[in-house]
Amino acid sequence: MVTRIIAIDGPAASGKGTIAKKLAAQFDFAHMDTGALYRLTGWRVLETGGDPENEADALAAAEYLRDNFSPEMTDIPEIRTDEAGNAASKVGVFSKVRQTLDGLQVNFAKNPPGVKKGAVLDGRDIGTVICPEADVKLYITASTEVRAKRRFEELKNKGENKGDSITILSPTYKDVLRDMKQRDQRDAGRDAAPLKAADDAIIIDTSDLSAED
Ligand code: CDP
Repeated sequence: MVTRIIAIDGPAASGKGTIAKKLAAQFDFAHMDTGALYRLTGWRVLETGGDPENEADALAAAEYLRDNFSPEMTDIPEIRTDEAGNAASKVGVFSKVRQTLDGLQVNFAKNPPGVKKGAVLDGRDIGTVICPEADVKLYITASTEVRAKRRFEELKNKGENKGDSITILSPTYKDVLRDMKQRDQRDAGRDAAPLKAADDAIIIDTSDLSAED
């Protein structure tokens, strides 16, 4: 069976996850949030007392994930924190970590679970590295300030809704903006699969658009 693939890339809080979910629902395709794999890897390093900037620690966590990943793991609330996002971006610099996580993503795209006719994957290198053959490639972006504001609101709402541990971790807008700039630079500046639009991607700036737009 021929599987359709929609590849969506873009920086943090650009709206790519929202668009990916809506497209998957629209076409009844399976959806993979590949950032969750990197967040789970980064979070595991922190949880096991390691350093996300240490390649051996990062690789051990990626290998654990490759061997033990289940979709329910992406619902762990801790991986949505700013701390986990930063750790994700640190482990994502290492090409061995990326290669370890590539198989899960390529397999999902080629054999979407639930025998779906297609897959939507969102991340940083889907159109360039994971699925260069994708039928449609979207690159979703927005200004840094708009993205930081969105992420700040998201984290604030999660903190208010999910209880004490996350409330304590809730950062200020300034923290979120600073972390986002650092993360953008690290993601776009790394040698291994840097964040960039594929040559054949459609670029959408969502700074002045709502999710429905
Ligand atoms: O939700 P947000 O857009 O902030 O980030 P995410 O998609 O959950 O990804 C978190 C981090 O994981 C990113 O900053 C990237 O460094 C890394 N990542 C990656 O390197 N490659 C991917 N395909 C997805 C995420």
